Order: sequence, then C-alpha cells, then structure tokens
Amino acid sequence: MIRVGIIGCGRISDLHAAAYHHFDEAQIVAIADPDPAIRAMRGDAWGVAETARYAEAGELLTQGDVDMVEVLVPHNLHEQIAEQAAAAGKHIALQKPMAMDLDEADRVIATAAGAGVTLKIFENFVFYPPIQRARDLIDNGEIGDVLSIRLKSAAGYSTEGWEVPAEAMAWRFDPSRSGGGPQVFDDGHHKFASAWYLHGFPQTVHAFIGNSFNGVLDSPSVVTWQYADGAVGSFEATFSPELSLHGKYYGQDDRIEITGTKGVIWVTRGHGRMSDLAPVILYKAQRTIHMDDMDADWGVSFIKSGRHFVHALENGTDPVITGGQGRALLAFSLAAQESARTAERVAVEPGPPPAPTT
Ligand SMILES: NC(=O)c1ccc[n+]([C@@H]2O[C@H](COP(=O)([O-])OP(=O)(O)OC[C@H]3O[C@@H](n4cnc5c(N)ncnc54)[C@H](O)[C@@H]3O)[C@@H](O)[C@H]2O)c1
Repeated sequence: MIRVGIIGCGRISDLHAAAYHHFDEAQIVAIADPDPAIRAMRGDAWGVAETARYAEAGELLTQGDVDMVEVLVPHNLHEQIAEQAAAAGKHIALQKPMAMDLDEADRVIATAAGAGVTLKIFENFVFYPPIQRARDLIDNGEIGDVLSIRLKSAAGYSTEGWEVPAEAMAWRFDPSRSGGGPQVFDDGHHKFASAWYLHGFPQTVHAFIGNSFNGVLDSPSVVTWQYADGAVGSFEATFSPELSLHGKYYGQDDRIEITGTKGVIWVTRGHGRMSDLAPVILYKAQRTIHMDDMDADWGVSFIKSGRHFVHALENGTDPVITGGQGRALLAFSLAAQESARTAERVAVEPGPPPAPTT
C-alpha cells in the first residue's frame, strides 16, 4: 500500500484523488493546503484524518507518514515544493509544466536524482483512451506513415461544467506565477505532450501567439512544427466567449486530426463533448470506422495516469512522463514562445522518445 500525500487541494485535485478511490494499492493519507476551507472540504471528501491535514507543504513532508506526494500547486511553487519533497525522501508526481524555465527544471531533476526518489511529471492526455487508441492505430500501420498532426483547442464556456475558483484563474493570468499564458504555455503542454506521444519530438517550431482580453489570454494562436522525417504538426488555440460547450469539466474541447499516407484518424473530443461523433474515427480504403468502444470521459485519463505511477513505484519502472521527458516538453514549449517573440523559426532540442501507455 503506497501512502499518498496531496499538496495543493485546488480545482484539479479531485480528479487526482479519483485514482485512489476503490484502489487497493494506494491511499490518500495526508493533505496540505493553506486554505482551511479547502482543507476541510477535501479532507472530509477523501477521508483524511484531521491530524493529517496540514497548512504547509513542509509540515506534511516532515510530519506526514507518506511514501509519495502529488504536487498540485501554481507553477511558481513547483520547483520549491518538489525539492522539499525530494529532500524529505518522498517520491514525487509533479503536475505539468514541471517548472517555469529550464534552470528550474534541471534543479528539480538533479535534486530528485540526488535524493534517490522517483520523479513523475504528471501528464494525463497521454493516458486519455481516445489518444491511446490513436497511437495504437498509428503503431499498427492503419494510416501508413504519419504526414501531419493537427491539434485544436476551442475554449468557450459551459453551464454544466466546473466552477473554477477566481484564485485558480488569478495565478494563471499572472506570468510571474504561471510562467506563461493559460492557453499555449499552460494548456498547450497537454497538446504538445499529445503530439509527442503520437509522433515524437519535432526539429523546429514556428509560432504565432496571440494577446487578447487585455493581455490575459495568449490566443488566438497557432504553433507549427516539423519533424525530422518531414511530417508537420500544428496546435491552434482559440477562446470564443459566446461558445457554449457540453462537458463536465472546463468549458473547452479539443480535437486532433492525424493524416497518414493511406488514412486519417480523428480524435473528436478531449476536455469536453462538443460533438456527438464517436471519440475516434478512422478513415481508410474508402471506409469510415466509428470507434465508440472506449471510455472517453476525460477524467479517466487522470485515474490511469495516477495508477500508472503507483505501479511504476511498485515495479521500479519508469513513470510516464519522466523528468527528462517533461524537461524536453518544456523546452519545446519555451521554443514556441521564443519563435512568437522573435518571429523566427526556432530549433527544438531533441528529447527522449515516448513510451506507449497502454
Ligand atoms: N492535467 C491537467 O489537465 C490540469 C488541469 C488543471 C490544472 N493542472 C495543473 O495542476 C496544478 C494546480 O492547478 P489547479 O487548477 O488545481 O489550481 P488551483 O489554484 O485551483 O489550486 C492550487 C491549490 O494550491 C494551494 N496552494 C498554494 N500554495 C500552496 C502551498 N505552498 N502548499 C500547498 N498548497 C498550496 C492553493 O491554496 C490551491 O488550493 C497546476 O500545476 C496546473 O497547471 C493540470
């Protein structure tokens, strides 16, 4: 039984917690959050003893009886808390992006390695069943060689989805706490990770990153890239204030189109449920195959990612994603920012290849 501490019990934490419900191999035994109301709400919901609810991450790390912590705090605190966790000898699942810049990322990796603890950078989209299916279809040669990957994130609003606390938006709109804009730097991480999972790291990137809503939104934007084999990719992000979306979570949805030499794959959803199409559609040999035989609830990707880490700790295998992979994704993301700033094409550092997650 792996004993888990959750550091930062904000908006996203209940999807992380879902990984430990009805799961014999790990249990949430301690939490830390400076907000007493959040501590009480999550502590009660997750059955955490009152004596194991801490106001400070440092208290949980020194006093809590935990093997592993999930670090779910604003980005400017990622390095500090991950390093404290490593110093306390705890394995770490650190939410993405792993840090605000590459120096911070390097220090997190070195500190975890020096302390002999396992570091996972938490990424859920590579565990999202429709994206895993797309990868299987590619690996099985269903569309031939990949020529192009297009990812699209459409943000709007949802009347049936989450209420996102004002403070969770405030730090995202403050670059000194987020490290970059909410749509390309923050949410874009998932899209860059998905593209990497589907076809590896590209060689070059070229981006147009927008600036709207009094400078708080980094959209409309398009980030484009090219792989060593000549294939190309792109990620487009928009925010449509009057676009009402179905979905239980954020008011947003995502789509992917992958074109190969003999077929096309569409992943028709992500965060939300914008269309009634099957979550994965394969077109090849003049046939359209609608694939509905998977759980396409976005929340499932968190459960799979969380449990994968527990198994990695039990079996001594690599987490998905590793610190090195997380660093390479951050380097790609920062290269996109540099391209938008300089209006130049920017070379991307080569990174480790993706492991399958199924
Ligand atoms: N994988 C995804 O799809 C996804 C989605 C949302 C957020 N995230 C990531 O999860 C992290 C948290 O995001 P969120 O939306 O839950 O933010 P949030 O603002 O809702 O929650 C952050 C929580 O951290 C707490 N906190 C602040 N300082 C702390 C400290 N020193 N010690 C302990 N707790 C502290 C806050 O009180 C708050 O409850 C971020 O890294 C974000 O990028 C990932």
